[in-house]
Amino acid sequence: MNIETRLVRPFLTDKEWNLSETTVKESSDSLDKRTGIGTEWLGWQTILEKPNDALLENMEAIGTEIHNKADIFIICGIGGSYLGARAVIEALTPEFNDRGPQILYTGHHISGRYLERLIAYLEKPKADGSDKQVYLNVISKSGTTMETALAFRILRKWMHDRFGDDAVLRIFCTTSKNGGALNKIVKAHGYRKFILPDDVGGRFSVLTPVGLLPIAAAGIDVKSLFYGAVECYQKLKTDRKNLIEYVTARYALYEKGFAIDLVTSFEPALTSMGSWLQQLYGESEGKNDKGLFPSVAQYTTDLHSLGQMVQDGKRNIMETVFKVVNEERTMKIPSEGNDYDGLNYLSGKFMEEVNDKAYQGTIQAHNEGGVPVFIANIDQLDAGSLGQAIYYFELATAIFVYCLDENPFDQPGVEAYKKAMYRLLGKED
Ligand code: PA5
Repeated sequence: MNIETRLVRPFLTDKEWNLSETTVKESSDSLDKRTGIGTEWLGWQTILEKPNDALLENMEAIGTEIHNKADIFIICGIGGSYLGARAVIEALTPEFNDRGPQILYTGHHISGRYLERLIAYLEKPKADGSDKQVYLNVISKSGTTMETALAFRILRKWMHDRFGDDAVLRIFCTTSKNGGALNKIVKAHGYRKFILPDDVGGRFSVLTPVGLLPIAAAGIDVKSLFYGAVECYQKLKTDRKNLIEYVTARYALYEKGFAIDLVTSFEPALTSMGSWLQQLYGESEGKNDKGLFPSVAQYTTDLHSLGQMVQDGKRNIMETVFKVVNEERTMKIPSEGNDYDGLNYLSGKFMEEVNDKAYQGTIQAHNEGGVPVFIANIDQLDAGSLGQAIYYFELATAIFVYCLDENPFDQPGVEAYKKAMYRLLGKED
């Protein structure tokens, strides 16, 4: 995993670069020496320093059990409790998957309509007339998040009504070691429980049971994912040149007045990685009137909605483009006798070659139009490469937020809407 800054450098003077680099190097040192803010939250690094193979094997075993038995696997969580799993699953599970369970998400909003339709879908028999086999993983560190808790309450009842005593074997809970409502529910029902260590915050938790269990249940090799991250962690301990360059460029652009970081990819399977990064950046940076606004787009799709804005709108946008370096070539363009659509000049080429030209043309046009473009090179679309990308961006986030002189690991602002909502709902404490 590396990030190219060649399409950013011309936007910065040497002075701006050097000033930024000094701050970034200080922030990087401060993280390493554990002298910065929020050092009690560095568990996302310690899990990679001492990999817990027994945990990985357990995740793999339970994931395989769910994978083999479930027709539907429901992931119930919000924010850092589901975005990482969703990113990896959507990147690596074939779009029209007919092997393994169908994966559905809930607990990430408060739509009654969605839940009602989800349950109707769960109740609909399979083509052969038999009942769908449903498994559920609820994930909440606090155990009290309204969106997740409400969905879990409704689905828990449905699971018990439908599967009776067997429901206990189909519900898996991931939460903190102690405390929180979810722990009380686990204790009362005897569900299987997995622990999110206290020193890992939600958005840094994809390589703990929060992400590993659902990812394993989707049939993805969690050991490769985890050890991809370990490899990146070990490398970045001694060689951080590329990462320092990336954060230097990003921080210098921020200081210069750039306000928006648009995360994009030309591979739709990577759009959810963009959403994961959006949350990692957004919740970590957005404090005390600081931070870049992270946004996500899917190209070329959104070139037909946001493209005009990116090309010609207010010049305060930078782009981060995920690029799969070793992309598989899959679909050849056929030739057609009469060439009515005028596409015969492409026949014999792969769709991927055309997409690559779209990528090259877009970054060139955007760059010439005043958009600094970071190219985030992911080696290939596999678990190991995604593991590398996950750690790379976690580290880049922590260092960037230290440059802002803020705590990368808290999210005090998220409480404001909750307080207002609870007041309106008449919650007493
Ligand atoms: O990154 C975070 O800490 C948050 O996005 C949380 O993951 C999110 O708010 C969900 O919280 P919880 O896991 O406590 O339900």
